[in-house]
Amino acid sequence: MAEFICLFGKDSASIVIKQPKKSPLFLRMIVLVFAMVCGLYICSVCLKQFSLQSSQLVPNPVDSHSSHVITRIHYPKPQTFNRAECGHNPVRFFAILSMQRSGSGWFETLLNSHDNVSSNGEIFSVMDRRKNVSSIVETLDRETLDRVYNLDWFTSASKNECSAAIGFKWMLNQGLLANHVEIVDYFNRRGVSAIFLFRRNPLRRMVSLLANSYDRYAKLLNGTHKSHVHSPEEADALSRYKPVINSTSLIHDLQETESLAAKALEYFNTTRHMVVLYEDLITNPTKLKQVQEFLSIPVKDLSSRQVKIHRGDLSDHIKNWEDVNKTLNGTEYEKFLRADY
Ligand SMILES: *[C@@H]1O[C@H](CO)[C@@H](O)[C@H](O)[C@H]1NC(C)=O
Ligand SMILES: *[C@@H]1O[C@H](CO)[C@@H](O)[C@H](O)[C@H]1NC(C)=O
Ligand SMILES: *[C@@H]1O[C@H](CO)[C@@H](O)[C@H](O)[C@H]1NC(C)=O
Ligand SMILES: *[C@@H]1O[C@H](CO)[C@@H](O)[C@H](O)[C@H]1NC(C)=O
Ligand SMILES: *[C@@H]1O[C@H](CO)[C@@H](O)[C@H](O)[C@H]1NC(C)=O
Ligand SMILES: *[C@@H]1O[C@H](CO)[C@@H](O)[C@H](O)[C@H]1NC(C)=O
Ligand SMILES: *[C@@H]1O[C@H](CO)[C@@H](O)[C@H](O)[C@H]1NC(C)=O
Repeated sequence: MAEFICLFGKDSASIVIKQPKKSPLFLRMIVLVFAMVCGLYICSVCLKQFSLQSSQLVPNPVDSHSSHVITRIHYPKPQTFNRAECGHNPVRFFAILSMQRSGSGWFETLLNSHDNVSSNGEIFSVMDRRKNVSSIVETLDRETLDRVYNLDWFTSASKNECSAAIGFKWMLNQGLLANHVEIVDYFNRRGVSAIFLFRRNPLRRMVSLLANSYDRYAKLLNGTHKSHVHSPEEADALSRYKPVINSTSLIHDLQETESLAAKALEYFNTTRHMVVLYEDLITNPTKLKQVQEFLSIPVKDLSSRQVKIHRGDLSDHIKNWEDVNKTLNGTEYEKFLRADY
């Protein structure tokens, strides 16, 4: 029980301790007001935290580092044009991850023949964009890729307002494997799906690599170097050159290619991804359908004007065939000698 101490004037030198009759009610009022103020404060703090949590559940495309929810459906608001009547259509982000001479150019023209797909080529073929991890992160986060995915990047592949899937291609040796931690982080943060495109037969890829790098200097088509052709005549002209394959390093080179692909799949195993094999794209029409389903776009018949350069038996395309045959005979790579596409 509280007591009041009252001090009287100088004519009364004594200290009187008394218990005023009205004080219990007064005290109760104070306690009540205090409790009310405390209650209001606690409520306001709770509400503030609750609203913070619910806003974190809606991932913010600019800063969703702390968010564990990956948004794969995007509604970009380009600065360079208006998405108009397609503004309400969702857009998916993708990247084609591949190796040189694995059919990714052809694959990209197939995808770009779809009304709603825009794949913008090898953005990281430019050395400045992949010099070191900072230039990659710069390209990803602050410059090129944010513009690509915001539909503000213009190439011949741009489709603008009605694009429903937007992407580019990236070769494993263009800083992709070397900086995989930062890139996987970006893919998961921005909801980018990866499409791996590999070749089942790396021996045929080797032929294509050697022939292509020879043509860079020889320029077989009327003095113009071409990596892709649009007519059987051009394809024949290019495939007339038969490269020599180094049989000493052949097994090692094939192993190297396989291990690069395996490494890429391991590094990117936390991203949403699918694996497409070039040989399946050629022989299995449902593969392109699966790719379109993976991208959540309407399934259509896709076409490309590109013509395959090295067709038919591999023995027709390798100068030292006997040598290569002997080297691979009896090894796990023997099957690559026969596969015909
Ligand atoms: C990356 O390259 C740029 C330009 O050459 C340079 O300024 C920067 O210091 C480099 N960063 C790292 C981490 O090496
Ligand atoms: C695809 O593009 C067409 C116009 O070219 C548009 O009418 C349609 O809504 C688009 N589809 C999607 C899923 O965005
Ligand atoms: C290359 O030259 C031949 C004639 O020498 C011509 O028929 C052909 O159209 C030319 N091709 C290109 C791609 O210019
Ligand atoms: C073939 O590969 C071996 C082993 O890597 C190398 O020593 C040799 O120089 C290569 N030969 C040619 C012609 O490049
Ligand atoms: C991804 O690969 C790493 C390294 O091999 C492995 O530890 C991890 O379990 C894999 N994660 C998934 C989801 O497969
Ligand atoms: C291939 O290997 C088998 C044994 O595995 C051998 O009998 C045969 O002569 C070899 N062929 C060539 C072309 O080296
Ligand atoms: C490899 O060489 C052997 C022996 O000369 C031959 O029988 C076989 O047909 C060759 N393989 C291919 C794929 O040409």
